[in-house]
Amino acid sequence: MHKFILVFSALLTLSSSYIVDFGPVVKATKGSIWPHPKTIVSTNYFRTLRPSTFDFETIGYKCDILQSAIDRYKQIIVVHLRRLRYKADSSYSNKWRNSSEFNGSMEALKVDLKKSCEKYPHLDMDESYDLKISENQATLSAESIWGVLRGLESFSQLLYLSPDGRTLLVNETTIFDEPRFKHRGLLVDTSRHFISMSTLERILDGMAYNKLNVFHWHIVDDHSFPYQSVKYPEMTRGAYHPSMIYSQKDVADIIEYARLRGIRVMAEFDTPGHTASWGASHPELLTKCYGVYTGKLGPINPILDENYDFIYSLYDEIVDVFPDKYVHLGGDEVGFECWQTNQDILNYMKQYNMTSFVQLEEFYIQKLIDKVASLNAIPIVWQEVFTNGVRLPKGTIVHVWTGDRRKLLLKITEQKLPALLSSCWYLDHLSTGGDWVKFYNCEPHDFTVKEDLRKLVLGGEACMWSEVVDDSNVIQRIFPRASATAEKLWSPMNVVDIEDAKSRMEEHYCRMRLRNINAQPPSGPGLCLA
Ligand SMILES: *[C@@H]1O[C@H](CO)[C@@H](O)[C@H](O)[C@H]1NC(C)=O
Ligand SMILES: *[C@@H]1O[C@H](CO)[C@@H](O)[C@H](O)[C@H]1NC(C)=O
Ligand SMILES: *[C@@H]1O[C@H](CO)[C@@H](O)[C@H](O)[C@H]1NC(C)=O
Ligand SMILES: *[C@@H]1O[C@H](CO)[C@@H](O)[C@H](O)[C@H]1NC(C)=O
Repeated sequence: MHKFILVFSALLTLSSSYIVDFGPVVKATKGSIWPHPKTIVSTNYFRTLRPSTFDFETIGYKCDILQSAIDRYKQIIVVHLRRLRYKADSSYSNKWRNSSEFNGSMEALKVDLKKSCEKYPHLDMDESYDLKISENQATLSAESIWGVLRGLESFSQLLYLSPDGRTLLVNETTIFDEPRFKHRGLLVDTSRHFISMSTLERILDGMAYNKLNVFHWHIVDDHSFPYQSVKYPEMTRGAYHPSMIYSQKDVADIIEYARLRGIRVMAEFDTPGHTASWGASHPELLTKCYGVYTGKLGPINPILDENYDFIYSLYDEIVDVFPDKYVHLGGDEVGFECWQTNQDILNYMKQYNMTSFVQLEEFYIQKLIDKVASLNAIPIVWQEVFTNGVRLPKGTIVHVWTGDRRKLLLKITEQKLPALLSSCWYLDHLSTGGDWVKFYNCEPHDFTVKEDLRKLVLGGEACMWSEVVDDSNVIQRIFPRASATAEKLWSPMNVVDIEDAKSRMEEHYCRMRLRNINAQPPSGPGLCLA
């Protein structure tokens, strides 16, 4: 009953009620962190930070990743003040300077990196950090460069504009932080609509502002093939347009851009279904359909040895081009209608005693999994591959995207396989007003209380399928809705207070706007000065 009243009043706030209060529906916090840190103690003592004189002082190991991060965050801090300064209400006095809690100015943040840098981010990277801003010190320390990156992001989020709009303030705060889940991803589909390089870079920026660490690049699919292969450059005949292609340089640039932000790039070349665009250059790879489908091409033809030669050699390239150890093989939504009409396929199945198309699919996927494993890469597959009963090598990650997530996660982890969750974080599923809350209320561990099974959930991904998004709207479709997923995957399980989250979210979306991410308003009427 209580629940009913809550739902009812939530509806009232969203629809037009006649009695409303003047002003924003949700009041933004000042200097709060998204996603919420593991432990944070903030005080009312505060310091000023003058962007023009403030500096980062590195006292530990250094490397290109650190230098580039420091340059970025200096810029972010300068822009933060510059863009807001003239919009602030100058009728406010600077009486904060006389406050007993004002503790002078902060000239520098010491950055203490305790171990030398790793080159690429990876699943088991250490992202923990300590950040202490007190009366006599301001230090960020971390064992690894990845922790420093997360700590710099948190530090930048502590800053807020002084009431008179003349400078930035930061409260004295002590943070120890580390993520709850290792794999915190965002899938972006660049096949249904092409997404330009500059938009992809904005998306990676936004991921860094949310401490997301895996860019799952669903790079090709039925509708277009924008990846320019070294071995098979002709495959871009399957691109929408010659200008809508990712060259090898583009791919390398994205991997580098992501690396500098502690983000892994995990590629997905989905097969045997979702491959129509492969047929634009290599129709022989696809199954010829007959009967009512005569003239059409279906999934990859799994009975031809030449097709395996082709796919194996493409996978040699993929594992070479993308440095991450994990490769997403896809394997979802294989339609059997076409295989069913092809006599060669039916004969082959008879010969090999296969009684179902699932077995034929398994036959294909099994070969691909063995191939990828032989390249020392670790396969990730969509859930169908698991539910269809393909034997999966130890360590293969099963990616849950549909159906009853609790049942599936239980089944997968009971078989000691690691899992990723996405089914509750489909960004293309829209509902009205503030629908990030539905993403926020999804708890990845609610399928069991058994710790050993929970541990096998490595994390999850928000998914941006691109049927109805392109450069014009993809950023605001992702942000700040994927921020909800980011907090579920980073913050402790007990961070569930939705009212608190709303206030922090209100500040966070506006902060993203200050940084050129066109995040959409999260929770109803309000303002963002950026
Ligand atoms: C920061 O300090 C100000 C001024 O003392 C105080 O009003 C505010 O609540 C503090 N913020 C946090 C998050 O503690
Ligand atoms: C702050 O303190 C100074 C000196 O104590 C005083 O002259 C000034 O009027 C005070 N400012 C405000 C805004 O209270
Ligand atoms: C800063 O704050 C502390 C309390 O944490 C206080 O004891 C100290 O006097 C303040 N220092 C300055 C320079 O105002
Ligand atoms: C198929 O089954 C038959 C009869 O059980 C058996 O003789 C034959 O070796 C099997 N073929 C394959 C390829 O497994």
